[in-house]
Amino acid sequence: MKAWIAKGYGGPEVLELIERETPRPGRGEVLVRIRATTVSAGDWRVRSLILPPGMGVFGRPALGLFRPRKGVLGTDFAGEVAALGDGVKGFKVGDRVLGFPGGEMGCHAEFRLMPADGRIVRLPEALSFTEAAALPFGGSTALSYMRRAETRPGETMLIIGASGAVGSLLLQLAVDGGLATTTLTSAGNRDLVAGLGASRTLDYAQTDLAALPDRFDIIADCVGATSFKTTRHLLKDGGRFLAIAGGIGDMIARPWQGRRAISGPADERREDLETLVGLAVGGRIRPVIDSVFAFAQMREAHARVDSGRKRGAVVISL
Ligand SMILES: NC(=O)c1ccc[n+]([C@@H]2O[C@H](COP(=O)([O-])OP(=O)(O)OC[C@H]3O[C@@H](n4cnc5c(N)ncnc54)[C@H](OP(=O)(O)O)[C@@H]3O)[C@@H](O)[C@H]2O)c1
Repeated sequence: MKAWIAKGYGGPEVLELIERETPRPGRGEVLVRIRATTVSAGDWRVRSLILPPGMGVFGRPALGLFRPRKGVLGTDFAGEVAALGDGVKGFKVGDRVLGFPGGEMGCHAEFRLMPADGRIVRLPEALSFTEAAALPFGGSTALSYMRRAETRPGETMLIIGASGAVGSLLLQLAVDGGLATTTLTSAGNRDLVAGLGASRTLDYAQTDLAALPDRFDIIADCVGATSFKTTRHLLKDGGRFLAIAGGIGDMIARPWQGRRAISGPADERREDLETLVGLAVGGRIRPVIDSVFAFAQMREAHARVDSGRKRGAVVISL
């Protein structure tokens, strides 16, 4: 099979297309033929070693001293079951599936093994492979942070960076959950976020965030443009700042006058994949797709993610 590996840290040029043996499923494993995957912000961070402020010191020890330990990047896949190991229940060859190895990566390849009881679920015909692959990275992160923030219907949420992979799904999940949403994006992304259900849209070029008269129950910074310290006065008593792309400062931030920061790695759960598929099939959320690249164009796809300008997910079709 073909796979893209990162030969070192750096720009998209460190990626190399290699041939390696197609793995065979062991007991309890499913072999998936990948039909779509994404280049996520997670892939960009691991490939480039560009980490949130203050996290750089942990980068190489955690990810690999000279090159990414994972080799094959790629956090998610949609595809078909190609073979089953002994003892697998719940899947058969030919089943359409969606998977989210997340931080375990390994999806920028033609095939990937998954534990059948891992983060892999059946994918209904109603969603194309391309659409489905755009859900797990942003959607799991959004669900995880909403759970940790214990969001409630009727609360107000400011979403900074609602046009990205995480932000576009967080916005829709918040709207679906009955929250009143305000988004902060560029003017060019205003129509996108209004179409996803934002109650109110603000243009970041025209808005002095610190001077806003509003007070929010939740502020979600999906791009690392602010911090708990610079926005905590915009939170109501009991308010939560979601430092989704936060650095060390937000991780160690102490609660302030009843307001607190929530930070760190998002949970990666199989049941969240089930939830996302159910909501998408039911028309309650929709994947936002920035662009679709061929497998051979992996470097171009990475370059698009590196731009920091993508809207939703960059998908690779195989
Ligand atoms: N904690 C976790 O476990 C976790 C999980 C997943 C992701 N993350 C992090 O979350 C971040 C977002 O990931 P993503 O995939 O959603 O990113 P993304 O899709 O690459 O974000 C790009 C979008 O952000 C917008 N943007 C850029 N700067 C902005 C600003 N100052 N204000 C408002 N919008 C801005 C861009 O719109 P314009 O072009 O209009 O500016 C673009 O649409 C990454 O840093 C990633 O590492 C963390």
